Amino acid sequence: MKKTVDEHADRFDDHAPDYDDEKTEEHHRSAELVVEHASPEPDDVVVDIGTGTGAIALALAPDAGRVIGRDISEGMMDEARSKAADAGLENVEFGYGTFREPEYDGDVDVVTSNFAMHHLSDEAKREAIAVIADLGPRTFVLGDVMFFDEPDPDAPFYSPDVDDPATVGLLADAFTDAGFSLTAVERIHDQVGVLVAERTPTADVEDASDE
Ligand SMILES: C[S@@+](CC[C@H](N)C(=O)[O-])C[C@H]1O[C@@H](n2cnc3c(N)ncnc32)[C@H](O)[C@@H]1O
Repeated sequence: MKKTVDEHADRFDDHAPDYDDEKTEEHHRSAELVVEHASPEPDDVVVDIGTGTGAIALALAPDAGRVIGRDISEGMMDEARSKAADAGLENVEFGYGTFREPEYDGDVDVVTSNFAMHHLSDEAKREAIAVIADLGPRTFVLGDVMFFDEPDPDAPFYSPDVDDPATVGLLADAFTDAGFSLTAVERIHDQVGVLVAERTPTADVEDASDE
């Protein structure tokens, strides 16, 4: 990680009031695709990590049973809480949690994250994906800055001094190692994509379904 969790939190606290006005078209498209692929059932519990001002959490709340937003920036989550109140959404809550320590131990059906995991080093991303797998979701939808081709530091999606995007290959390997199968890859830009990971059925489950 090029900055500590606290440094990232301070940075986003400062950006929070203007954050929603500064997103790129690709960021918006990524959010749309994350929401579309997450597609929760009415009783589902969704955990959205790096929830920020709640773009994903608030969009999913009307279709889900409960949505838990986790972030390190109270300033960003205050914006999310205010939007939830304005929209009259009562099944969404926001609180402190990191990718590697989401601070949630209930049942989880779907995990989402949009434009946030690229703040972690590749090793930390691998650990985070393993932690998320341990939460037990059937689906994990990750939208983020990621490299389909060679990194281009001049593209507007990341700052090399603070961000650390991974290659799609590394993310795909991390998902597989954590027990997920990639079921969709959406390439929005050479450096922005959405990956949909579903829990890979275990041998026991496959055997049982054969009986
Ligand atoms: C670019 S914003 C994206 C917010 C939102 N998901 C969206 O699509 O608009 C990234 C968010 O990730 C959060 N973040 C950064 N590092 C994090 C970490 N290690 N764990 C949890 N959240 C983190 C930041 O505080 C920030 O709110």
